[in-house]
Amino acid sequence: MSDPDAVDPTAGDTTAAADATADPLGLLQTWWDEARERGDGMPDAISLATVTPEGSPANRIVIAKRVDETGVVFVTSGTSDKGRELAARPEAAAVFLWPQPLRQVRVSGPVEVLDDADSDELFAVHAPLSRAGFVASRQSEPMDPAALDRLWERIRDLAEDPDALERPARWHGYRIVPTAIEFWSQDEERTQTRVQVYRATPADPWQQRQVQP
Ligand SMILES: Cc1cc2nc3c(=O)[nH]c(=O)nc-3n(C[C@H](O)[C@H](O)[C@H](O)COP(=O)(O)O)c2cc1C
Repeated sequence: MSDPDAVDPTAGDTTAAADATADPLGLLQTWWDEARERGDGMPDAISLATVTPEGSPANRIVIAKRVDETGVVFVTSGTSDKGRELAARPEAAAVFLWPQPLRQVRVSGPVEVLDDADSDELFAVHAPLSRAGFVASRQSEPMDPAALDRLWERIRDLAEDPDALERPARWHGYRIVPTAIEFWSQDEERTQTRVQVYRATPADPWQQRQVQP
């Protein structure tokens, strides 16, 4: 007799179920590309969770600059809170949320710092005002509220001469090399599907399981 609570593995967005084992990062790239093509909301925004020295979770939004077969790349200051947290404990968990169709992807694993050439490349693609901000601001350091206008004045001044802006040594690209990815999706009938892939280390083969929504 069939179990009435059993999960039907063919329910929901079966694209995920069918594709996930073979090439999970390829599937993530496909979903990312589809969300970017639709352009709803902020398709590149991810919540990025790190662990504080006290062992508490810490979370904030950053922009995914690349999603490819190696993982998920973002940029930040190594002397920000998250930069220090990653230096002490180089692992992170991130979440993408895309509204149409409703999809959530969770990614977690070790984090590596990109080399200088790669970080320079990522720095160079930012708009002058962003680059000036990376140069002038000591992200996450306490500040006198009265100094905020002066800081922004300085950032706008620096942005006037973009060719003079060099990547500060503290600022890098970082890559989350996933050891776990969950593809959550909902179809038109509001059927939700959760497909998880995981591997013990980035060198190990992927395994897959489906879990109840
Ligand atoms: C939409 C959005 C995108 C952001 N993108 C980045 C980013 O790519 N890199 C970054 O360092 N901070 C980014 N921030 C700011 C972070 O959320 C955060 O305030 C900052 O990195 C400091 O975090 P920390 O003190 O935990 O290190 C972004 C914020 C928002 C709202």
